[in-house]
Amino acid sequence: MDYQFLTLEVADRIATLTINRPDKLNALNSAVLGELSHAIDEIRVREDIGAAIITGAGRAFVAGADIKELSGQTPVVAKARARGGQDIFRRIETCSKPIVAAINGFALGGGCELAMACHIRIASDQAKFGQPEVKLGLCPGYGGTQRLPRLVGKGRALQLLLTGETIDANEAFRIGLVNRVVHAAELMNAARELLRLVLANGPLAVALCIEAADRGMEMSLDEGLLLEANHFGLLAASEDTREGTTAFLEKRAPSFKGK
Ligand code: COA
Repeated sequence: MDYQFLTLEVADRIATLTINRPDKLNALNSAVLGELSHAIDEIRVREDIGAAIITGAGRAFVAGADIKELSGQTPVVAKARARGGQDIFRRIETCSKPIVAAINGFALGGGCELAMACHIRIASDQAKFGQPEVKLGLCPGYGGTQRLPRLVGKGRALQLLLTGETIDANEAFRIGLVNRVVHAAELMNAARELLRLVLANGPLAVALCIEAADRGMEMSLDEGLLLEANHFGLLAASEDTREGTTAFLEKRAPSFKGK
């Protein structure tokens, strides 16, 4: 599909999805969200894609939902908008291929929520984070009230949610909102380097780690441990496990096939 507000480029099995509406700081209007939804499905199904980076064009990652569209929305439309965005972000979070947010600038509101739906977050030292919805008399609608406490703890999350304050990349790192902060010029290389490390590993094992961490967070410890043991058992039937263990014993690099 041809995208108007996104670019999707694939090199060495890594897709780079760039949200490209820089004049509006990549704000997520319906058109951008529609394309994002399509692009996520493309990343999920395309066999030449093993991992993805989501980033933004210009000085923003994403400066939030499009406030123009939010003003004057009816309750029914607002709820449908929230559910629609939540569905797209959940498809990112549950993608079996690793997805890294490369946060180049403003990640506010829906932008912070988009970053949190990704598996790993790397921030440029120019990035800024916040959930400023309360300043508009709104609350987050794309998962901010749920993912932020899970990532940084309830107290820190409520401070950001209730004040609507913006924090810089170092503070985001300090509270555990991002995995790493790098110089702006190194951002994309750092994201690609991280994904290259992941892509060298068994793809089935990677997919099951994502699934176990995602599902397990919502389970009791006993249920989560059972899920993990089931995954461990399932992988024992895979060629990848045989290849990985044999390669170690033969002192050579493994060659995984994802089978
Ligand atoms: N929705 C719609 N348009 C947005 C937007 C958003 N969330 N964020 C930025 N824009 C637009 C601005 O309206 C402006 O458009 P214009 O040039 O046609 O007037 C353009 O993007 C540039 O933004 P501007 O505000 O001029 O840049 P700035 O550097 O002065 O400020 C921000 C940057 C991010 C601090 C500021 O744009 C902002 O506060 N954005 C809203 C953030 C927010 O509340 N997000 C949550 C929404 S629920």
